[in-house]
Amino acid sequence: MKITSAEFIKSAFARPDWPVDGRPEIAFLGRSNVGKSSLINSLLHRKGLARTSNTPGRTQSINFFLINDAFHFVDLPGYGFAKVSKSMRADWGTMAEQYLLERQNLVLCVQLVDSRHNPTDLDMQLHDWLVHNERTYIVVATKSDKLSSNQLSKQMRLIGEKMPGARVIPYSSQTGKGRDAVWAEIVERIG
Ligand code: GTP
Ligand code: MG
Repeated sequence: MKITSAEFIKSAFARPDWPVDGRPEIAFLGRSNVGKSSLINSLLHRKGLARTSNTPGRTQSINFFLINDAFHFVDLPGYGFAKVSKSMRADWGTMAEQYLLERQNLVLCVQLVDSRHNPTDLDMQLHDWLVHNERTYIVVATKSDKLSSNQLSKQMRLIGEKMPGARVIPYSSQTGKGRDAVWAEIVERIG
């Protein structure tokens, strides 16, 4: 995909903030620090468009980006961030869940998992939720540059076993590994 333009549109804290233009949307979801914002930047070849951080929970709102004036990337808040109160965590969960359930123009969910680790309980909860609610999704295994190719094959097998039927793509925001494969999935969904 040739990126002619990519811009941040807005941070949404509630439903009335969601864009109303009906363009197709690709949502990125996964636990805090898994690499959602980095993946967005890497796919778009833009270093600082989505804010990345070493502090988990950095992305606390639903952030919308307009790509090529044609579709949106949506950076959802990370789950599993322990440093906030339970009620705040619940708010984030509700906000993300409402978006995932109700958004008509959501054409693809991209669930991120850390390629170095077994999927966590929260990863599995989200995955089961996506399957149960019949959302179209792919799984991106991030930070693959941190593993040897042997380790990566082993982890990919393991993730595949835990998430049967899922399309799992190994990715590295540092090297761009997996970029073409992820774009192919996105292009297929936006037509
Ligand atoms: P929240 O917004 O807090 O939910 O986090 P996030 O999922 O957006 O993660 P973010 O993209 O901010 O990345 C977290 C950390 O992981 C940063 O220090 C990134 O530089 C690092 N990181 C992300 N992707 C990769 C990758 O593919 N390889 C390596 N080596 N580091 C990565
Ligand atoms: Mg982020």
